[in-house]
This record gives sequence, structure tokens and C-alpha cells, in this order.
Amino acid sequence: MNILGIETSCDETAAAVVADGCDVRSSLVSSQVKLHSEYGGVVPELAAREHLRNIDPLVLSALNESGLSSGELDGVAVTHAPGLVPALLVGLNYAKGLSLAGGIPLIGVNHFTAHVYSCFLEHPDLLQRNNFPILALVVSGGHTSLALITADGTCRIIGRTVDDAAGEAFDKGAKLLGLGYPGGVMIERNSQEGDPKKYRFPRGLCGGSGKAVPEKDRFNFSFSGVKTALLYELKKHSQPLSPEIVTNLCASYQAAITDALTVKTAAAAHHHQAASILLCGGVACNHQLRQKIGRESEKLGLNFIVASARYCTDNAAMIAGLGWHELKQARVADMQLDASPRLPEKLDPASFAPDF
Ligand code: KG4
Ligand code: ZN
Repeated sequence: MNILGIETSCDETAAAVVADGCDVRSSLVSSQVKLHSEYGGVVPELAAREHLRNIDPLVLSALNESGLSSGELDGVAVTHAPGLVPALLVGLNYAKGLSLAGGIPLIGVNHFTAHVYSCFLEHPDLLQRNNFPILALVVSGGHTSLALITADGTCRIIGRTVDDAAGEAFDKGAKLLGLGYPGGVMIERNSQEGDPKKYRFPRGLCGGSGKAVPEKDRFNFSFSGVKTALLYELKKHSQPLSPEIVTNLCASYQAAITDALTVKTAAAAHHHQAASILLCGGVACNHQLRQKIGRESEKLGLNFIVASARYCTDNAAMIAGLGWHELKQARVADMQLDASPRLPEKLDPASFAPDF
């Protein structure tokens, strides 16, 4: 079955055609990074207008590239939550139009669950029962959460950030350093020659400096402290900063964020006796994070799967892929499907649990 995926939850307009959940026939992304870079973050109103301009040509190109005609589509899957509502509405309304005009099912996809699914796109064998329980670290500009997926199909959030997302911490840090957007890419690039131990930035909720971590925050994250620490450190230096100071600040800042993500993920995997660790979302592009979590997984003897960079950042292949699993389980939406900014407290059972 061929599914067209549409994604407009934030600052990327994306369209993809995926057959049977993992055969990516086309996957196109039109990035708005340049548009938002001068504001140091995404402006919802501008994002929505840009999606509106891009969506039709992008969907037509994705169809073209897939070699399929619109008559050969078996469904249209679209991100409806969570995200920026004005941006989500563009994709959602476009998908409703296609569904009505083509007489094909409309499938509502949760962006968070789709990030988890991005690891399955290239590793469909992950669905075998012995790879469960799966612990997924979803780490992006909007999310930093640990999801535990058990073989019975439940997907539970067992840890989340109590303030900023890790990607947001990268973006805000880069803004303070005057490095531009997206911050994670800029900080990673500028940290190459730096000393990660030069500045000791806090590892939030990891129990440093003799502070006990409350039980409720055992698997939670906090990134507001690291950003404030950077702000205070910057006040000690005269401007403009020397290249050496910039590279050391970037390396130390990146180390603090990747350490906190790694420590919590490894602790949660151990506690919940996970068989696999997945790493996904835009921040999963970070090489140091991949290495650190990869090393910990190896120590724990677990499978470690990280999506290719093109599937870590926002894309529509993950939407179309997960959409196929939803359709197989007859979870089809109607024209009442609404956009929502939030991740529901209780996630639907994961559609990608093993069939048995
Ligand atoms: O998943 P994504 O494309 O969009 C959201 O759903 O948020 O993630 C974007 C986030 C941004 O905060 C960006 O700074 C971060 O991913 N990011 C990175 C890297 N590449 C992108 N963070 C750290 N290192 C990177 N190489
Ligand atoms: Zn995302």
C-alpha cells in the first residue's frame, strides 16, 4: 500500500511517498531555516504562510519522484499534533482536501510517535518481539522525552524535560553566542577544536554538586540551568569573544547537554530492562550524542538504533511510514480531525508494536 505523508508541524514543509511502511519512494523537505534565522527561532505565522506557498508544488514533486500517480495512493497521512497550530492546519487542511477529492482514507499521525517510528523506517526488523521493550529518546527542538514501548503495544512516556527541550537549549545557547540558527548545528560545528572540560556547565537533574535528584525526576531532564550558566559565563568575558573562547564554550556546552541525555537514557534503559535504545529527533544528528549513547548501549549489551540524519530532522517519510501501520489497524480519521499543540498525556498504543 502506498501512503502519501505530509508534515507541516514546525518550520519544514515535507512530503513523502512510502510503500508498505518502509519502502521510501520519495521524501522531500523544504526548509524554512533561512526565513526564521534572523529571529533566532521559528515564527508560527511566517511558518504557516511559507507552508501554504510550498505545499502544493512539494506534494506534486514527491508524487512525481515516486513514479506513482495520485490514483495509486492508498491513503494520505498527515501530522495533526503536536506542533504550531497555524503551521499544522496548513498540512491538515491540504490532506483533508486530497482525501476528499481522491476518495482515499485520511490518517492522522502524531509527530512525536512518528519521530520514534523514524528508527523503524530503515530497520523494519526492529519489530521482532525480542527487540522489545524499546526505550526511545526523542530529542528535538520541541521534545526531550523518553518513551518506553512494550511488546503489547503500549507506548509510555517515562521521562521528559521539566523546562526547555535539548534542541531549544542548543538554539538558545547559539543565540547567546551569536552563532545563528539552527543552534545545534552551529554549536556542534564550532565545538570541533574546543575543550569540553574548560567550563563546567551543570548537568540538570543528574545529581551533581551533591544535590539529590527527587524520585519523580529520576528520568526527567532539565536544560534551563545550562543556558543560564552560559549567560553568566558570557558576562565574564569582553566582547567580541576570541575564537578560542567560542570553541571552548561550545564544546563545554555541548558536553553538558549530551552528558545529561546519555546518563538519563542509560539509567532508564537499565531500570526498565530495555532490549533496545532508539535515538531520534533533530538533536540525534549530533555526533557526540550518537557516540555517547552508542557506547552506553554497548556497555549494557543493548541494540542501539539511530535514524539517518535525513530521518532525524523533520520529514514526511516517518509520517507516511507510521501512517501505513495506522491504516493496517483501520485507525482512520474523519474530516473532524483537528490540529493540537500538545502531546496527549496518554499516548495511543504504538501502532508499530510487533504483530502477534
Ligand atoms: O526534529 P527537528 O528537526 O524539529 C523539531 O521537531 O523540533 O529538530 C530541530 C532541532 C533544533 O533545535 C536543532 O538545533 C537541533 O534539532 N539540531 C541539532 C543538530 N542538528 C539539529 N542539535 C544538536 N546537534 C546537531 N547536529
Ligand atoms: Zn520534529
